[in-house]
Amino acid sequence: MSRAARTESTKSPDPSGDRTPPALRLAGVGKSYGAGVARVVALRDVELEVAQGEFVVLLGPSGSGKTTLLNLIGGLDQPSEGTIEVLGHDVAALRGKQRTEYRRDRIGFVFQFFNLVPTLTARENVEVLAELTGTDAATRSGEALRRVGVGEVADRFPGQLSGGQQQRVAIARAIVKRPPLLLADEPTGSLDLDTGRQVLGVLRELARTGDHTIVVVTHNSEIARMADRVLRLHSGAISESAVVERPVEAAELRW
Ligand SMILES: Nc1ncnc2c1ncn2[C@@H]1O[C@H](COP(=O)(O)OP(=O)(O)O)[C@@H](O)[C@H]1O
Ligand SMILES: [Mg+2]
Repeated sequence: MSRAARTESTKSPDPSGDRTPPALRLAGVGKSYGAGVARVVALRDVELEVAQGEFVVLLGPSGSGKTTLLNLIGGLDQPSEGTIEVLGHDVAALRGKQRTEYRRDRIGFVFQFFNLVPTLTARENVEVLAELTGTDAATRSGEALRRVGVGEVADRFPGQLSGGQQQRVAIARAIVKRPPLLLADEPTGSLDLDTGRQVLGVLRELARTGDHTIVVVTHNSEIARMADRVLRLHSGAISESAVVERPVEAAELRW
């Protein structure tokens, strides 16, 4: 952690004092898998708050519960206890159709291995998602692809793109729905340094425009230097929340 970081409570600062709900608020969140002797406690008593427009890095070693936490926030799984609010709405309580709509409309996911459909072009990969959430799918998809810098290669198939380009297409797919919350699980985990920096720069820029609150999960502590705030996760518990006073540009990261 850089010297520019200071430790504070897990609550976001709210200097304006206004009543805008936080993008994200977790209280007493726990998650265990299995039962009896096979029971694994993946998360315990997680409390955190993320303000709208924040770029947060969730840092922790392998097995610390990062993916579990992201999946709970994104509505892919449900907590064993506690509450999860996104923009003031309790998402842990959602069931069935409401839950599907929440995932579809409110959350953009970016994964380590891109998860593009190999038989669809870049443009079609994005349009498939855009079509689920309203009209003008083609226009919105073109905009999203251009916004992350892959407009020129939109008609290629994933196999004809570099890893970094594929991840940008995956980001375009995640933002085409204009979700308030963008969740990225090890988004640079399978990219080389240069490409990883470019992809992180794209994510950082998306937070800067104010349209998206972004949570990036990683085991790479270097990435924490570009965050507004760093949350550290150890053995399923948040051990630290630190504001980064002067976040660096993605291009300055080294690993
Ligand atoms: N579906 C599951 N069933 C049982 N245990 C799981 C499951 N998913 C994760 N775990 C366990 O929960 C803990 C946290 O895992 P995970 O959230 O994947 O950590 P990270 O993403 O930080 O590597 C680990 O001990 C892991 O083995
Ligand atoms: Mg993980």
